Amino acid sequence: MSRKFFVGGNWKMNGTKKVADDLLGNLMKGSLDPNVDVLIGVPALYLDYVKEKSSCCIKVAAQNCYKVEKGAFTGEISPAMLKDIGVDWVILGHSERRQIFQETDLLIAEKVNHALQSGLSVVACIGETLDEREAGQTESVVAKQIKAIHEKICNWDNVVIAYEPVWAIGTGKTASPQQAQEVHKILRKWLADEVSEAVSQKTRIIYGGSVTAANCKDLAKECDIDGFLVGGASLKPEFVDIINAKQ
Ligand code: 13P
Repeated sequence: MSRKFFVGGNWKMNGTKKVADDLLGNLMKGSLDPNVDVLIGVPALYLDYVKEKSSCCIKVAAQNCYKVEKGAFTGEISPAMLKDIGVDWVILGHSERRQIFQETDLLIAEKVNHALQSGLSVVACIGETLDEREAGQTESVVAKQIKAIHEKICNWDNVVIAYEPVWAIGTGKTASPQQAQEVHKILRKWLADEVSEAVSQKTRIIYGGSVTAANCKDLAKECDIDGFLVGGASLKPEFVDIINAKQ
């Protein structure tokens, strides 16, 4: 089955209105491969602004949201609020949320479930740390993370899995195409064994961690790599080249 290539840019906690204008301008004047789903993960404060200014072929995502619709949760935003301003996507479980903000597998799974139930599509992030990789635990760590999500959700239709090895994020140390493919293949087999062959074949599994214009083409050649989640390089003009990696 052919899966539509998917490239997300995660701006993280970067940008101003002016920067957002520049990044959007760059994307909208670039000729983007029409066979690619393009998403930008924008700081919550700028979602409405970016959503208003972006063209319909660019999906806009929040970088986090909470696991209930409303209530006394100071500082949080809900899927219902995202839907209210026309945002249909959210990135959940990013390693920075896991590590810096102590989000657990369970909390992330609950957030993914509530986001899906609320009609959002989700980029669900998983990945091992360097210590875990060096201890030979990569497979068990990503299996545990994906299992936690599977136990809470009823349907994988609106989920994109982002495999982001923590040691590759923001370090300039990209996983080699073989290293990334190996884990993507493990994840696809996990989906086939634990969910269904159909879900395994249709779910996009994208790679994140120091993706650049220079390394994206080789990564994109691997059969189980269905796109990228890009941090630093999504704030640069080269993001267009990453979107067009398959050309
Ligand atoms: P970098 O591309 O900066 O390594 O970040 C990857 C990432 O965390 C995307 O979510």
